[in-house]
Amino acid sequence: MFLNFASMRNIPFSPPRVDQTTINAVVEVLQSGWITTGPKTRLLESKISDYCKAEATLCLNSWTNAVELILRWFGVGPGDEVIVPAYTYSATGNIVFHVGATPVLVDCDKDSFLVSAAAIKEKITSKTKVIMPVDIGGMPVDYEQFMDLVRLPEVKQLFQPKGENQKNLGRILVISDAAHSFGANYKGKRVGTQCDVAGFSFHAVKNLTTAEGGALIFNLPEPFVNAEIRASINISALHGQTKDALSKTQAGQWRYDIIEAGYKCNMTDIHAAIGLVELERYQETLDKRESICEIYNSVFSKHNLFVLPEFHNEFADSCFHLYMLRVKNASEEQRDSIIKRLAERGISTNVHFQPLPLLTYYKNQGFRINDFPNAWSQYESEISLPVYFDLSEADALWIAENVIECTQQVFSK
Ligand SMILES: Cc1ncc(COP(=O)(O)O)c(C=O)c1O
Repeated sequence: MFLNFASMRNIPFSPPRVDQTTINAVVEVLQSGWITTGPKTRLLESKISDYCKAEATLCLNSWTNAVELILRWFGVGPGDEVIVPAYTYSATGNIVFHVGATPVLVDCDKDSFLVSAAAIKEKITSKTKVIMPVDIGGMPVDYEQFMDLVRLPEVKQLFQPKGENQKNLGRILVISDAAHSFGANYKGKRVGTQCDVAGFSFHAVKNLTTAEGGALIFNLPEPFVNAEIRASINISALHGQTKDALSKTQAGQWRYDIIEAGYKCNMTDIHAAIGLVELERYQETLDKRESICEIYNSVFSKHNLFVLPEFHNEFADSCFHLYMLRVKNASEEQRDSIIKRLAERGISTNVHFQPLPLLTYYKNQGFRINDFPNAWSQYESEISLPVYFDLSEADALWIAENVIECTQQVFSK
């Protein structure tokens, strides 16, 4: 096939913003004599609490481990059900399997990547312990709908509590999978404090990264004391040890106890140092991401080929994590062919997401994509375009033009 190399560039999908400031921050930690969990991690937690106006934040090594600890804290296990969207990354469903419970998948709304409380309500049974709506691409779900749902008398009546935490809550726990939505807004407030617990991901491709990492924000109602729950999850995340490594190294402070067979998923200060740099300049990151998304929107809106992603609605504003374009009437094969053509021009794109029932493990558990028609239709025509801080406006325009050209080529075949 003839390739016009003059028109080729090398555009990655989502490289991190690593510059001398990031490197200096990491070097400072490396030279400080303390490289695991310590002052930088605690500082990042307090800055995230300030940023999200939250009572209690805990930073750990990933969204996955952090949210799994919440399922365990709530006593979710065999025989229990956790309702999650079919349209999400596998982590949301996998952690339900980790604790031995059953994920119950819900289709997204028609023409949306998000699930609604109405769809979740239909799946609630007496076994439901947790619901976990997901802010796909950085666009928040309508959190209040989910909180209202679990407080409905008929829904509360169905709830069969096991263990102290479930009894104290007296209803289904709402965990917000906010892996994508750090910095997004819901009803004028930053995302994080709207549901019982929110989980952020700081994985390498996320808007705000610590290379690998995640954070929990606790907003549990009384009688829970969020600072205490945060402290107990922190212990679970470090072997069940009553003292962290830093406190243990203080002179004479060697003795500790193990109060449970805990896990090991703390964040290190090296990672936290990256996060602190990222957070300091996060508004700049958000502004740049927004301007790239606006360039894409302004070019694509002139063509009748696409369904543009939603970044604002009456209650929420996205943090522009993903630019999720849908190609009107494209089959999966046509979408893949557009992606291939873009790759031949040096443009890396992605698909968010393959709905869980398309993945082998989930198929083997009995899930079938035919039961999730909205997820399938969102997926088959979806292409996520590059959005990152160092992407120039000229490159964004060039990408958009190439998307149009490749789409027209595929449809003219
Ligand atoms: C929707 C969603 N939830 C959870 C996760 C898991 O995040 P982490 O990689 O920090 O465990 C991801 C990661 O991409 C995600 O996309």
